[in-house]
Parts: sequence; C-alpha cells; structure tokens
Amino acid sequence: MLPRKSFAHLPTIIEHLPRLTKTLGGPDLYIKRDDQTGLATGGNKTRKLEYLIGQALAEGSDLVLTTGAAQSNHCRQTAAAAARCGLGCTLVLVEPRPEIPTANLFLDNLLGADLIWTEKSNRDEILHQAYQKAVQKGRKPFLIPYGGSNPVGAYAYFAAVEEMLGQLSDDLPDWIVFASSSGGTQAGLVAGAQYHQLDIKILGISVDETEEVLTTCVSSLASEISHQYGNKVDISPEKILVSDKYLGDGYGVINENDREAIRLFAELEGILLDPVYTGRAGAGLIDLIRTGVFKKNEKILFWHTGGITTLFANKYLGEI
Ligand SMILES: Cc1ncc(COP(=O)(O)O)c(C=O)c1O
Repeated sequence: MLPRKSFAHLPTIIEHLPRLTKTLGGPDLYIKRDDQTGLATGGNKTRKLEYLIGQALAEGSDLVLTTGAAQSNHCRQTAAAAARCGLGCTLVLVEPRPEIPTANLFLDNLLGADLIWTEKSNRDEILHQAYQKAVQKGRKPFLIPYGGSNPVGAYAYFAAVEEMLGQLSDDLPDWIVFASSSGGTQAGLVAGAQYHQLDIKILGISVDETEEVLTTCVSSLASEISHQYGNKVDISPEKILVSDKYLGDGYGVINENDREAIRLFAELEGILLDPVYTGRAGAGLIDLIRTGVFKKNEKILFWHTGGITTLFANKYLGEI
C-alpha cells in the first residue's frame, strides 16, 4: 500500500449532460467532475498529490518543490496541498512572468508558496539547485516531478478507475475522453482499465505534445504502474490512444474551437472548462462527435481534469 494523505473530495460525481448530448445529436455524454476535487479550486493533480504528499510525509520531509508554467494548475494544487499539510512549498515557474499575478499565480502567493522564476531551458537545473540549497539549510526537501507524473502520482488514476467502476458498475462508457499533457492521468487510467480488463477506449486529447511523443511517454509510465501495482504487463505505445489533431498554434494559444467548447459547456450545462486543457479536450470531443468517430449509440465519459482558475488569467480576459 502506498502512503496516502487524504484531502481530495472523493469520489467525484459523474453527471449526465443532457443538453449538450441533444445539441450535438448524440452520443450520450457524461462528465466526471475532477474539477471538483476540493483543493483550492480542484483539478486532477489533487488526486496525484494525495500519494505524492503521502510519500513526502512518510519520508519526514518538511518542504516540497515542483515546477510548471506560470499559470500551472499543478503548482497551485501543490501549494494548496503543502499548506494543508503544514509543509513549505517552493515552485520553480517558467517565464514569461506576467506583470499582474492573476489566477493560479495569485493563488500560489495566497497559499504561501515561494516562487523562483526561470527560463524553460534552465528549469530542471534551477529546481535541482533549489533542492540542494534547501538541504544545505538543514531542510528535508521532497521533489515532486513535473505534472506529478511519476508512478506514485499516476497511481491515483489507476485507483480512480476502481472509483468509476463503483459508480457505473455494469453501465460503463465506450470511451473516456480528457486532456493529456505530462501523461500521468492517462497512464493511470490505461493501467487501471487494463488491470480490470475493461473494454473502454481511453483517448487523451494532447494539449502540447505530438502523438508519437505522448503515446511513448504514456506507454512507459502505464507499464511501470502495471509492474509496480497492477498485473505486471507491458503496455505498448500502439495500445495508447492519443489525438494531437487539436494542438492548433500550440500550448495555451486559444483558438475558435476551444472557445466554442468553453461556451457550449457553459451555456448548455453551466459547466466551466479552462482555456488551456479542458477547453481543448472539449473541442476534440465535439469534433469527434461531428465527424462520426463517436457513434450515436455510444456512451462517452468526458473526464474533467480541472484548471478553471485559468479562465481568470490576464492572458485570457476578453479572449473567450
Ligand atoms: C487542467 C488540467 N488538465 C489536464 C492536465 C494533464 O494532466 P497530465 O499532466 O496528467 O497529463 C493538466 C496538467 O497540468 C491540467 O492542469
């Protein structure tokens, strides 16, 4: 059993999306609300952090360090989890540093994290230096990887498959669709579905990487999870479903399809998507329905991974 510090609001609920289903003309759409995991506006990293912070506490650490983009949801949830557990938190954030610290950045400060700014090319080196400095000062630092995506963090989504099974039992979806980036969420879901022998297509909509890069990364992490916590099989890249068709002009650059998805979810279901991850996954979902990849008689579970705080980032004000 992995050490775990319980702070997520679980199980997250699964809801039907009747108005979106009707407007898009079927298939039947459901949503799993991991935007409601409860930690300072929630998101998928909260699940991972239960195990990562659990390990940090088990090792007697008093400080966690991690890294991400200026508007990183992962960093904001790490800062919140650290605050909740009485741990220090150092975040190495990638430039450009916005003039006004809005959204996740505002919350990082509010949650008491120490921020270090760096260029992307130096990110890992600066993180390592911050770790060494903390050791020299007599602290017991614990390094949380980018996106919380190592086997310990991703195990949370292996466990989340069991949570979903408890909720849906024999009425399982044909597809699970969600935003995929550092691959931990997808690797956990894939390894979990493999462990339970589920016939569900698990499709990650990439927000930044090519299909080739992301399938390789997810397959290796899913295999590690399977060997450590599952039924010890290799999960090959060919078994990983990723679409990189919706990348547009790249990470965080909002486009008309992202905007339409954000508006449709909000106007039809009162559900907020974010401009970087779930808006793009929503755009993929809508396109895959319109192009007939998802059949009318199928059941689709859109796994909401959070990130809604970014709606309030300066960069996106007036853009949606
Ligand atoms: C809102 C949101 N959705 C999806 C993801 C992607 O999750 P993963 O990094 O596990 O692929 C992230 C990662 O930061 C995120 O913040």
